Amino acid sequence: WVSMVTARTPTNIAVIKYWGKRDETLILPINDSISVTLDPNHLCTTTTVSCSPSFDQDRMWLNGKEISLQGGRFQSCLREIRARAQDVEDEKKGIKIKKEDWQNLHLHIASYNNFPTAAGLASSAAGLACLVFSLAKLMNLKEDNSQLSAIARQGSGSACRSLYGGFVKWVMGKEDNGSDSLAVQLADEKHWDELVIIIAVVSARQKETSSTSGMRDTVETSALIQHRAKEVVPKRIIQMEDAIQKRDFPSFARLACTDSNQFHAVCLDTYPPIFYMNDTSHRIISCVEKWNRAEGTPQVAYTFDAGPNAVMIARNRKTAALLLQRLLYNFPPQSDTDLDSYIIGDKSI
Ligand code: DP6
Repeated sequence: WVSMVTARTPTNIAVIKYWGKRDETLILPINDSISVTLDPNHLCTTTTVSCSPSFDQDRMWLNGKEISLQGGRFQSCLREIRARAQDVEDEKKGIKIKKEDWQNLHLHIASYNNFPTAAGLASSAAGLACLVFSLAKLMNLKEDNSQLSAIARQGSGSACRSLYGGFVKWVMGKEDNGSDSLAVQLADEKHWDELVIIIAVVSARQKETSSTSGMRDTVETSALIQHRAKEVVPKRIIQMEDAIQKRDFPSFARLACTDSNQFHAVCLDTYPPIFYMNDTSHRIISCVEKWNRAEGTPQVAYTFDAGPNAVMIARNRKTAALLLQRLLYNFPPQSDTDLDSYIIGDKSI
């Protein structure tokens, strides 16, 4: 027999950024963060997990290519899930698995990103969240999504926020063992559904400095990061939660843009400095800022993760259409420029 589960998980985009760990192994952050989860039809990972007594080892394929499962982070997630596994019984298929059997049953995992992994658009967040969720279903875990988020967190910090749709907060927690460092949903996907997210892929090249090593260097060398984590972010988290509850776009946009800018400022304050944005990213910021100033009130928010690609959040569909026109006019996509394509969420978040 073979027992199988398939799940799909969208990626999430932080509007108040996670950058810096207080524990590298358990992946515990130095500040809370807030994100929006994309619509499940865009930028998502689909994962099928299966087990069978005939499998002789754990194996995984990513986009059809076999990859190694030796990484410590993957193994931590697997260990945590196996430790919570329950009995599974399916009379029709003749499947009867006792919880202790999970220690010896091997897994086959096939995962697909519907978006090029090389573009560096937070594919690990969706991937690990999906892996944890599908394994939890296969092994009949009783934990809720928040408790599962604490497991996904150990695969990649930002992954914990993809266990929920809508707006999500990753609470940094206080405990040394990480038990209270988990994701909670602030508002579901229907709460603010006029927002439209547009992602401009500025460069499909893989980023030079991974988030993991970049944030380690920042914590070790930046004089600004502690100020950000202790003084700035706690206030912004409260303000952002308020802006989301009230659907206050001007406050939301201001907080998201300034937080992205501060994250890139601490990258620059890292030694040696980390440059994630490029000239095109800077031109996109200027273009949005100019437009927002001309309108007298923000129409679009921007945010950039550990790479040059721009994530823009328009206040409604009409603004999104205008934004797209402006982007196409100012950054005409040509094969010999570094602005390759646009991805347009045709449904709101
Ligand atoms: C800039 O979650 O990729 O996207 O925990 O080391 O796997 P690890 O890092 P990762 O970092 C994401 C950083 C960010 C900001 C964010 O998503 O909050």
